[in-house]
Amino acid sequence: MPLRTKDLLGIEDLSRDQIQLILETAESFREISTRPIKKVPTLRGKTVINLFFEASTRTRTSFEIAAKRLSADAVNISPSTSSVLKGETLFDTARNLEAMAPDVIVIRHSSAGAPHQLARVCSASIVNAGDGAHEHPTQALLDAFTILEHKKKLRGLKVAIIGDIAHSRVARSNCWLLAKMGAQIMICGPPTLLPLEFEKTIGVCQPASMNPSEARVCGSLKVTHEMDEALQGADVVMMLRIQLERQQEAFFPSIREYFRYYGLSARRMKAAKPDAIIMHPGPINRGVEIDSEVADGPYSVILDQVTSGVAVRMAVLFLLAGTKESEVEQRT
Ligand code: CP
Repeated sequence: MPLRTKDLLGIEDLSRDQIQLILETAESFREISTRPIKKVPTLRGKTVINLFFEASTRTRTSFEIAAKRLSADAVNISPSTSSVLKGETLFDTARNLEAMAPDVIVIRHSSAGAPHQLARVCSASIVNAGDGAHEHPTQALLDAFTILEHKKKLRGLKVAIIGDIAHSRVARSNCWLLAKMGAQIMICGPPTLLPLEFEKTIGVCQPASMNPSEARVCGSLKVTHEMDEALQGADVVMMLRIQLERQQEAFFPSIREYFRYYGLSARRMKAAKPDAIIMHPGPINRGVEIDSEVADGPYSVILDQVTSGVAVRMAVLFLLAGTKESEVEQRT
């Protein structure tokens, strides 16, 4: 089944069926990374450009690995080694890259909407690898893939998302995805990093923002500033990084104060279900939003999230880079 979209710009734009298709395709690719020879010819002759204007370890590397495991040619571009340093605009950079006929351009940018601008001028598929505080769709997809691996379902699960919600593209994409798939989401953070109107502004779980079939199965989203309330009975605890690079003012008095009210410790985890899993998109600020004891503990699936990233990004590249249905059978 085709994905029926040229680009992957955000989870908000995806239907439940499209999300399901990406997750099922990722499942079929999972095993390739466990083989002695981790390579299949599926995207031979295709070109993937990674255009990262912000720092990244997990996303950039896993897109590159995903492309290479599918035999595509992967090219990495960063501002420090490109003509962006000489003042070239995003538009001109994109038009010049487009002239070299790539099949997919993966972009991370500090400005919300930058991937959408590229999508309008490029015939290559554009993948949003994080745009400002807006969306990080492949992170939400790999988070869902990891939750499914451990909990076998999304519908009805209680998911607590805790931390710097206001600046988090990960929270935004996860709220969209988890709501569309029927989870019960509780978002939590200090009032300065989680405005109470977030629920309304993001539009998640509001029937007007989705088609009727999605509205019927939509989960719920609640806002709290009390961490113990968010953790109560949670199946999944998703901690977020404090995004100091996006904070122009002091949003909390001190790191110590922040950890006291919103940091995850083993003591705090007692409010969650005994088998609750602990997630974090990385990079972790140890002792700020999460204690090492829980980040490295038996219920942490943080490194599983990183592993999931390769399979999910293989699926995204495969579904976007022009694979005909007849090729699906031959891909492995
Ligand atoms: N989760 C995530 O986006 O990590 P990177 O910033 O290292 O890509």
